[in-house]
Amino acid sequence: MATALIDDAGLDDLEREFLGRVRGRVLEIGAGDGENFGAFDPGVEWQGLEPDAKRRAELATRAREWRHTATPLDARAESIPLPDHSVDAVVGTYVLCSVDDPAAALAEVRRILVPGGRVIFVDHVVAPPGTLKRAVQWVATPISKRVCHGCHWDRDTERALAEAGFVGGDIRRLRVRSMPFGPVPMLLFDGRAPGGD
Ligand SMILES: C[S@@+](CC[C@H](N)C(=O)[O-])C[C@H]1O[C@@H](n2cnc3c(N)ncnc32)[C@H](O)[C@@H]1O
Repeated sequence: MATALIDDAGLDDLEREFLGRVRGRVLEIGAGDGENFGAFDPGVEWQGLEPDAKRRAELATRAREWRHTATPLDARAESIPLPDHSVDAVVGTYVLCSVDDPAAALAEVRRILVPGGRVIFVDHVVAPPGTLKRAVQWVATPISKRVCHGCHWDRDTERALAEAGFVGGDIRRLRVRSMPFGPVPMLLFDGRAPGGD
């Protein structure tokens, strides 16, 4: 199936649009150094989670600048130190490619969400079966895991989300212009945990 081809600026706009949809108590997993603050609705009650100490320190500084009072959690998405059903939404950009165990992370996300809670994930994903791009991703992943903070190029994140029980409401499968290996397959997923109204 042909997917839309966009550039980095178009992707940035879409990311902001998706992240801007969450409301209430929001957990951002793998929040890095806080690139996403400008995209959130000013009324959200933001909480971040980031295992890397240096990034977490920067994240804490930027969180204060954006008037978020919660101290970022020193934790991994596979073991989130929050009670069951305690957040309204979970977001993650370029983090499901990096976690050690996506199924465990998504089980935790589901546990802490209220029934019907919202998830927004943005990530590069595996190319369709039988493509040269997929072969390149398969070859590149052992290297990128080592040199790019655990990044996997060969993850089927849409399938992982479905297997974890999340139901997509707005799913965008795109290709983003990139050099030197050509367009990168990208997923933007706005979905819900089971339950709710
Ligand atoms: C590519 S960066 C993306 C950062 C940020 N979300 C952004 O879009 O700028 C991936 C982030 O995931 C974090 N990370 C790696 N393993 C993780 C895990 N198991 N649980 C949560 N975060 C993790 C890394 O420390 C890093 O900050």
